[in-house]
Amino acid sequence: MSVAAIVVAAGSGERLGAGTAKALVLLNGRPLFEWAAVAMSRHPRVDSVVVVTPRSARETIQRVLGPEVTVVAGGHTRQQSVLLGLAAADPEAEFVLVHDAARPLVPAGVISAVLDGLLAGASGVVPVLPVTDTIKRVDERGTVTATVDRSDLRAVQTPQGFRRSILDTAHAEAQELGSAGTTDDAGLLEAMGLDIMTVPGSELSFKITTPHDLLVAEALAASSDILR
Ligand code: CTP
Ligand code: MG
Repeated sequence: MSVAAIVVAAGSGERLGAGTAKALVLLNGRPLFEWAAVAMSRHPRVDSVVVVTPRSARETIQRVLGPEVTVVAGGHTRQQSVLLGLAAADPEAEFVLVHDAARPLVPAGVISAVLDGLLAGASGVVPVLPVTDTIKRVDERGTVTATVDRSDLRAVQTPQGFRRSILDTAHAEAQELGSAGTTDDAGLLEAMGLDIMTVPGSELSFKITTPHDLLVAEALAASSDILR
């Protein structure tokens, strides 16, 4: 099994509002892109890592990660950044993992579970958690119109794993249709009518989106074994 990991880190981090690209924000003294890249590269079943960065930070990030990691500039949307990462990923890799740099504390066990799903024959695998809040639908005035049955809802995390040839095709089709489409990669395969397997995610893999998330991550990072 040959596996390439693509870490997408090219977003601007509007909602975090740090005044710098989110990937450069420090967690326990180390930038988010480094946490995510090391989480991938130290996994024994990951063979190569590509990090997709904001154009202006490409050289700085390459210096920190060293020559073992391929670093390329990203695009205006997450989907474009993944496409640029795919173009730079080892062409020999049979499987790809696509991971958000904004999920720096992903445990190795989640990566293993995604890879096990691919080995079992899935085209695409996503880590998920059950939704714990009650979910309601509202109208444009904010008045509740329905309470949604949450028993079959799942919150989706990364890394998402794919047979590489299928992800290439899915991105090529999305480009052709001009669809800026989905907020994740599995959505592109779903649009092709392919089945996506789910495996258990982890509360540690939560995405840092807001300043509150960064505070929580800071509390958890001290006991993480990813960077020490
Ligand atoms: N991402 C990317 N290229 C983009 C947009 C997003 O590589 N053009 C990456 C981000 O760096 C992040 C992941 O996709 O690791 C998930 O995106 P999100 O959490 O939305 O990050 P940002 O887009 O940076 O944040 P915001 O939406 O608040 O601006
Ligand atoms: Mg975003």
